[in-house]
Order: sequence, then C-alpha cells, then structure tokens
Amino acid sequence: MEKFLVTGGAGFIGSNFIRYLISRYPGCHVINLDKLTYAGNLNNLRDICGLPNYRFVRGDICDEKVVNEVMPGVDIVINFAAESHVDRSIGSPGDFIRTDVFGVYVLLEAAKRYGVKKFVQISTDEVYGSIEAGSFKETDPLMPSSPYSASKAGGDRLAYSYYVTYGLPVVITRCSNNFGPYQYPEKLIPLFITNALDDKELPIYGDGLNVRDWIYVEDHCRAIDVVMREGKDGEVYNIGAGNEKTNLEITEYILDRLGKPRSLMVFVKDRPGHDRRYSLDWGKIRGLGWEPIHSFEEAMDRTIEWYRDNRWWWEPLKSGEYLEYYRRHYQREL
Ligand code: NAD
Ligand code: TYD
Repeated sequence: MEKFLVTGGAGFIGSNFIRYLISRYPGCHVINLDKLTYAGNLNNLRDICGLPNYRFVRGDICDEKVVNEVMPGVDIVINFAAESHVDRSIGSPGDFIRTDVFGVYVLLEAAKRYGVKKFVQISTDEVYGSIEAGSFKETDPLMPSSPYSASKAGGDRLAYSYYVTYGLPVVITRCSNNFGPYQYPEKLIPLFITNALDDKELPIYGDGLNVRDWIYVEDHCRAIDVVMREGKDGEVYNIGAGNEKTNLEITEYILDRLGKPRSLMVFVKDRPGHDRRYSLDWGKIRGLGWEPIHSFEEAMDRTIEWYRDNRWWWEPLKSGEYLEYYRRHYQREL
C-alpha cells in the first residue's frame, strides 16, 4: 500500500489534493503534516478526517524532529506547505523565507535520509515573473519579483539541487492561479465571491488589467498525479489552462453570475511590484497526456455555487484577525 506524505494538506490545494488521492487510490495511506497557520483549516477535510487510511499531524516543516518522525516508510512526498499570499509577503517576508525555503530544505534532508521514491515540489508560475507577450517555457530564466515568488524560486531550485547533487528523485511543478472550493477568502476569487454575496465592495488593485491564467483546482490535482507518476526526475513541468483573464473580467463575471451591480467595484491603491501578466507554455505536460477537462465558465459557476452554498465554511474565517488584516491592508472596513 503506497504511503504519501502531503505537507500543507489543510490548505486550499493540499486539501483538494488529499480528497483527490483518497478517491483515486482508495488503498493508499496519507499523512497530512500541517502547521495550521491562519490559512490551514481542518474544516477543509471534514469529510476525510475519520478515514482509517488518513492521519493528520500538526507540525511545522521547519521542525526537523517532527519531519523525521513522519518520514520513515513514506513512498512519495508532495510539498504544498507554504506561506502563499503575495500581499502578506510584502508586509512579512521573513515567514515566507522560513517556510518556503528553509522548510523545503528540512523536508529534502529527511526525504534523502529515508530514501523516498519521489519528492514533488509544488512551485508556482510566479517564479518566472511577469511577461508582456508570449508564454514562459520551463527553460526560461527565473525573475521572481515579490518576496513570495522569490522564496518559492529558492525552494524550487533547492529541490532541483537535491536531484543533481544527491540523486534524490525530485520533480517540480509550476502551476498558474488556482480557484475552487476551500480557498481562503483573502485571494481574489473567493474574496470577491464572498464579498459580493454580502453586498460588500470588491477592491480592485490599480486599473484591474493585470492578467492571470486561471485553472480549476481539480485539474491541477490531476496534473500533479500525472507528474508524480510519469514525470522525469530533475524536471520541471508547467501547468496552465489557457484561461487568461484580466482581474476586471473576473470581477464582472462574478457580479453578473450573482446578479449584483457593477457599483460594488472599487478601484484601490495598487499592490507594490504588481506583476502585470503571467502566462505559461504547458506543452511539456501535455506531452505526458494531461490537459484540463473543466472549462473556465463551468468551473467558475461550480465555484460560485459552492461559496453560495457553504457559508458555514467561509463566514467564520472572515472575522477576528482577518478583519484586522483587511482594515490594515485595504484601509477600509469590511
Ligand atoms: P494555502 O495558503 O491555502 O495553504 C498552505 C498550507 O500550508 C496551510 O494549510 C498552512 O497551514 C500550511 N503551512 C504553512 N506554513 C507551514 C509550515 N511551516 N509547516 C507546515 N505547514 C505549513 O496555499 P495554497 O493556495 O493551497 O497553495 C499550496 C501550494 O501551492 C503552495 O506551495 C503555493 O505556493 C502553491 N501554488 C499555489 C497556487 C494558487 O493559485 N493558490 C498556484 C501555484 C502554486
Ligand atoms: P491573488 O489571488 O492574490 O493571486 P496572485 O497575486 O498570486 O496572482 O491575486 C490575483 C490578482 O488579483 C492579482 O493581479 C492581484 C489582484 N487582486 C485585486 O485586484 N484585489 C484583491 O483584493 C486581491 C486579493 C487581488
């Protein structure tokens, strides 16, 4: 029976991935190692937590002791654990460097010591930086421009170095912006859906013309599975969906679907160093037989419906520390 160590499994993509793993490989064993930062939430796995082949361990990937306790017997490590919000990285870069670089080192060392069969490092398209025209290939240079993307680039290349130097079977994925259920409501799509549901303002940075390529989280989970099984050690795989949209297009889509007025849109101060456009060439993973199966519209409609029907999940998150963050960050009340 294959044993997986999923780190950061109580976050958005990690929890969707654990749900995917358990339905795709019902005989597998999954250990979820998560520190439960503000972004980690055991409610994301409420339907999974009682299963006999699933175990949750609360712990920090920077803590060698706990990492060495969970690693023995693990076949495959998938590292999602990270500080993941660009805006927070501007105010507190130290947390990002610690988890997204040093934490990766601690995991790699333990994976080497216990001879894991595969180490999947979940990196991001943001490591390439912004691109005005065309799309980045895996061989393009990295030009990260926020403390978040720079620390992710550090973790990405550190993982590669463990392949080259020690022969650790590492594969690295660089995916575009995800959306779907259980995404913490500080990120664009869940923030705007939940604000719109409550008739609150949608704060758009700058002119709203920044472009992201949006992928439904389930398509990303399938892509990770393909890379974990078919990917070549030491290689990087871009994962995209061909859904390049401006933030204004996303905002208008959400408002229209919910039947809310455009007057909820407000233009606010731009994010410092805001990358204008992300775009990936994902021909390489297509060569492994993967492509997205969800259209943008179908996946957005499902996502909007999920937030509409699951207030129990997001309402408690938009309180306490979150409201303080929101007030400080946007200089407006929620
Ligand atoms: P998230 O913020 O929702 O979840 C991160 C999880 O990691 C949380 O459960 C948190 O508690 C945990 N964590 C943080 N620090 C930890 C530590 N030191 N030790 C153990 N656990 C810790 O993030 P997400 O959106 O699910 O992203 C998951 C991964 O995918 C990240 O590595 C991110 O860089 C990458 N990624 C995200 C996107 C996206 O659009 N969300 C796109 C490409 C890549
Ligand atoms: P985000 O979800 O933070 O992802 P990333 O910055 O990692 O791509 O933001 C997506 C886009 O939406 C980005 O161009 C910033 C913009 N944005 C806003 O305009 N307003 C907001 O309140 C947020 C959170 C993001």
